[in-house]
Amino acid sequence: MTPMHDPAAGRPTTEGVRRTFSTIASRYDLFNSVSSLGLDRYWRSVAVRHAELTPRSVVLDVAAGTGDLTMAIARQGRPKSVMSTDFVAEMLDVARKKAQDYQGPTAIEFEVADAQALPFDDASFDVVTVAFGVRNMPDRAANFREAKRVLKPGGRYVVLEFSRPPFVPFRSMYYAYLKTVIPVLGTLLTGDRPSFLYLGESIRAFPSQMSLARELYAAGFKKVSWHNLTLGIVAIHVAQV
Ligand SMILES: C[S@@+](CC[C@H](N)C(=O)[O-])C[C@H]1O[C@@H](n2cnc3c(N)ncnc32)[C@H](O)[C@@H]1O
Repeated sequence: MTPMHDPAAGRPTTEGVRRTFSTIASRYDLFNSVSSLGLDRYWRSVAVRHAELTPRSVVLDVAAGTGDLTMAIARQGRPKSVMSTDFVAEMLDVARKKAQDYQGPTAIEFEVADAQALPFDDASFDVVTVAFGVRNMPDRAANFREAKRVLKPGGRYVVLEFSRPPFVPFRSMYYAYLKTVIPVLGTLLTGDRPSFLYLGESIRAFPSQMSLARELYAAGFKKVSWHNLTLGIVAIHVAQV
């Protein structure tokens, strides 16, 4: 399989990302739970808390994939509505199936959309969320500008992403895990070794918490904070308009 990044540029490419996620859509959830030892559910539930949702909140979840954050928002946050978007239809198909059993108060909709060029009006959402999506975007700055554009004044962008553990000995162990265990697990569970080699590389190359906060400020957000989880393996950035 072709990797989802351009090895020359060292960055993900739109075509590569689309191809990878359309191929692994049906096995994505299994890989996620196994590789994170089930922590991914906890990380998403903390992200929902940081979204500070109310029964009147109108939410947009971008790069929603198979919908785990969308469903956590609906079940735990119970806002008025959540629009779940991704540019890979096969991933959203899995998400749609999860929403079939949902019986809570939140209206859940799905739409195929590129998070770097959102098909929504200015100031149309109270909260925008993304989990494990921005690392795979070739143009992250475009996504940050778009999130800001579609947020209402006072709105917040909640970004859950792998990050840089600050404690160096732990970081070294974790990076070794990414280099050795993840490609083996990924190959066993999805058959796609290049993408899981890329996963570790992309996590190691991703900006630190502080650098990502700077990028969010550069996109025009007024106040940015972050919260490390699991010793900084992931961080939740909250950027306010
Ligand atoms: C690692 S998955 C994360 C899915 C989900 N948010 C979760 O928490 O499991 C990354 C998702 O980002 C999507 N994605 C990457 N770049 C995108 C873009 N520019 N626009 C929309 N979706 C994108 C991929 O299609 C994929 O479904």
